[in-house]
Amino acid sequence: MAAQRSQAATFKEPNRFLAAFQAFTYRVIARSYYRPYIESLGLRGDERVLEYGSGPGVASQLLAQALPDGHLTCVDISRVWMGYVKKVADKYSNVDLMHGDVADLDIPLESYDVVFVHYILHDIPARFQREKMRIVLSKLKKGGRCYIREPTSPAHGIAPEEIRAIMRENGLRETGAATGKSPQGAPTFQGVYEKL
Ligand SMILES: C[S@@+](CC[C@H](N)C(=O)[O-])C[C@H]1O[C@@H](n2cnc3c(N)ncnc32)[C@H](O)[C@@H]1O
Repeated sequence: MAAQRSQAATFKEPNRFLAAFQAFTYRVIARSYYRPYIESLGLRGDERVLEYGSGPGVASQLLAQALPDGHLTCVDISRVWMGYVKKVADKYSNVDLMHGDVADLDIPLESYDVVFVHYILHDIPARFQREKMRIVLSKLKKGGRCYIREPTSPAHGIAPEEIRAIMRENGLRETGAATGKSPQGAPTFQGVYEKL
């Protein structure tokens, strides 16, 4: 019941045809947009990583490959997207899946070295963003890092100041930040945050 409430409030399943088209376009841009970003994170390879909102699993596959001695947990609220990311979990033994709203999932506190947030926060209604991120960031160990990249346009994005405020409120300090452009030319912000 609690799970149904959280989901109903924040999320609508994508149309399966649109999802297939989106998954295809994400795979097309994987090499030029996802891979360089994930390589730039400098993962050691033995971390426990929590991916919040894994969608079609394009980043998940690259993260799984970057963690030969580590582990990746993919969280997504969508049944449709879980079907895609399951193909990644079937292929890599270091990946597990958790389906649901992060508020309803039983994930131990401070149990991950890295939280990866890629193009998800802007999709969550503004009034729920702080609460969802408070929960996601509570899963990060002290000294752990959060990597975030989000679009920032007022029409479809989240302001960098908002991201920074959320990180501060949750006891994370910024250790790196940059602006960029999505493959469609929309402005983006990326930041690296360390939990104090
Ligand atoms: C735009 S997609 C991005 C997917 C992926 N991170 C990427 O960059 O390719 C946003 C994803 O967030 C998921 N999502 C939205 N609200 C969520 C929530 N409350 N909890 C978990 N996942 C959520 C959606 O189902 C979708 O898969």
